[in-house]
Amino acid sequence: MAALAKGTVSVVLVAGVIVGVVSGVFRFSPDARSEREGKGGPAVSAPGAAAPPGSGTAPAAGTPAAPAATGAGGAQPAATPAPSVNLQPIAQGQASAEPAKPRSGTDFSADDAPWQKLLVAAAGNAAAGQTLATSGRTANGVLACASCHGAAGVPDKSANFPALAGLAPEYLAKQMSDFRSGTRNNAVMSQVARALTDADIGALAVYYASLAAPPVANAAAADRGRRLHEFGDNALALAACANCHGAQGAGEGPLLPRLAGQPRQYLLDQLEAFRSGQRKNDDVGTMQAIAKRLNGTDSEAVATFYSNLAAPR
Ligand code: HEC
Ligand code: HEC
Repeated sequence: MAALAKGTVSVVLVAGVIVGVVSGVFRFSPDARSEREGKGGPAVSAPGAAAPPGSGTAPAAGTPAAPAATGAGGAQPAATPAPSVNLQPIAQGQASAEPAKPRSGTDFSADDAPWQKLLVAAAGNAAAGQTLATSGRTANGVLACASCHGAAGVPDKSANFPALAGLAPEYLAKQMSDFRSGTRNNAVMSQVARALTDADIGALAVYYASLAAPPVANAAAADRGRRLHEFGDNALALAACANCHGAQGAGEGPLLPRLAGQPRQYLLDQLEAFRSGQRKNDDVGTMQAIAKRLNGTDSEAVATFYSNLAAPR
């Protein structure tokens, strides 16, 4: 009897520990910050710290893997545990620099990110975004977004331009800010983004988020791409993409982007950019780590899978 009771106690203890660990590892809630302040996850700098908008000093377009020229490069190796000190340069017009907060590798809450206030300021400004998207502002070098991203935010399927329609406004604003600051680099988009003001970024994000995501055909039968999406691959230590990108690939929350319906070549380009480190705006380096575990065949399989996946509307 006593032995049975003892056995029960240890089973309960073990279960408690597992629940504790799992819930500590997976925190996606936007208000996870207060929680994580107490707990010592790997101390890495917040993503916002490396991407101050408003500094017109981003590196020249096309510079290979150039760190942000603002000095934010010091905060860059996001995956490396670093003491949580404030490495954020104070950009013009940014009154307070928040100290970098400790974050865990799966914590995508992005409170106090610099682009958040751009969205607040742009609420209801979709019309201004639409005008800019359709006509551009040639005097300042802003090309019409529609010429590459499609008239309604859905590009030609054979292009390597991403669909913007229906992406979360937070994700859109973050990407434009990242292109502008240099943490995400692309010869064409970096140049476009550097010509955008804070108000432009807010209005464009609100506009594109309001458009319907691209309707596409149903995915083919089960294949390697679908398996990686649904289950990942234990042997490769790969988590299921669906964990973060949604059961239907339609994205999760504000910062985990929809992959369903993105052009195949765009997806391949991004996986390669994460793999090579040319794209390094993925929060704490999660996507770079994942992309490194995908070989060429697997990358093609997931890219094909998502480009064919029906986007829920
Ligand atoms: C000349 C073509 C071109 C024009 C014009 C253009 N873009 Fe892009 N855009 C691209 C390319 C190419 C990429 C992919 C860059 C990469 O590989 O990182 C991109 C990527 C993006 C992304 C990232 C999407 C994602 O899923 O991560 C956003 C947001 C974006 N563009 C917004 C805009 C906005 C807003 C405008 C208009 C002000 C615009 N773009 C104008 C070519 C263009
Ligand atoms: C632990 C969470 C997580 C998992 C698992 C994950 N991703 Fe991601 N992924 C992200 C985040 C976060 C971003 C956005 C980074 C940023 O802010 O630019 C992203 C971005 C991407 C992008 C770029 C999308 C765009 O519009 O530019 C691609 C492509 C992608 N992931 C593919 C995959 C694939 C394929 C898998 C599975 C093999 C996968 N991801 C698994 C978190 C994850």
